Amino acid sequence: MTKRVAILISGGGSNMVSLARAMTGDYPARPCLVLSNVPDAGGLAKAADMGIPTAVVDHRNFKGDRHGFENELQIALEAADPDIICLAGFMRILTPEFTAQWAGKMLNIHPSLLPKYKGLHTHARALEAGDAVHGCSVHEVNGELDGGQVLGQARVPVFADDTPDDLAARVLPMEHQLYPAVLERFAQGDLTPVQLGEA
Ligand code: GAR
Repeated sequence: MTKRVAILISGGGSNMVSLARAMTGDYPARPCLVLSNVPDAGGLAKAADMGIPTAVVDHRNFKGDRHGFENELQIALEAADPDIICLAGFMRILTPEFTAQWAGKMLNIHPSLLPKYKGLHTHARALEAGDAVHGCSVHEVNGELDGGQVLGQARVPVFADDTPDDLAARVLPMEHQLYPAVLERFAQGDLTPVQLGEA
């Protein structure tokens, strides 16, 4: 059965677009909602242009009231009745209480080869460490930040004169390939990791 997918974003939404574009034809999922915590996130207009329902839950209205924010998030998500939630550049940390409500149904994309470089500034940290290979990961979301089972990774080479922006520009197109490939398997109950990239 075709799965309903809600996509959570905070910014430009390029991963959201790549997911939504993949969800046609025989693909086992369809987007049911794009939700942002940032009212002017560029991805919201892109989703609307693609005919996907959108919603905003602005975290700034909750000023330190994390549970109030997550309660509104939960209401908006339940209204869309998703089978799967994809975090795609969603830059709020979710509590273990919230993620537990969607255990086994929530994915995230992270711009590092997990378990390396959880959190922010992943490209700069890979460069500082002198890594020869970098990349991105899609993982199940559990109560631990950027934790959960890794369901796919894409690798890229790191070159001697790379800047963090160079690395980000090399990784992002791989994110756009990896996330739809992982979601396609996940929607069919297949947790076999996807491996992409030559590095
Ligand atoms: C992507 O690189 C994604 O991996 C990263 O934010 C970017 C969002 O871009 N996510 C995180 O850092 C999560 N901790 P997009 O809005 O164009 O998809």
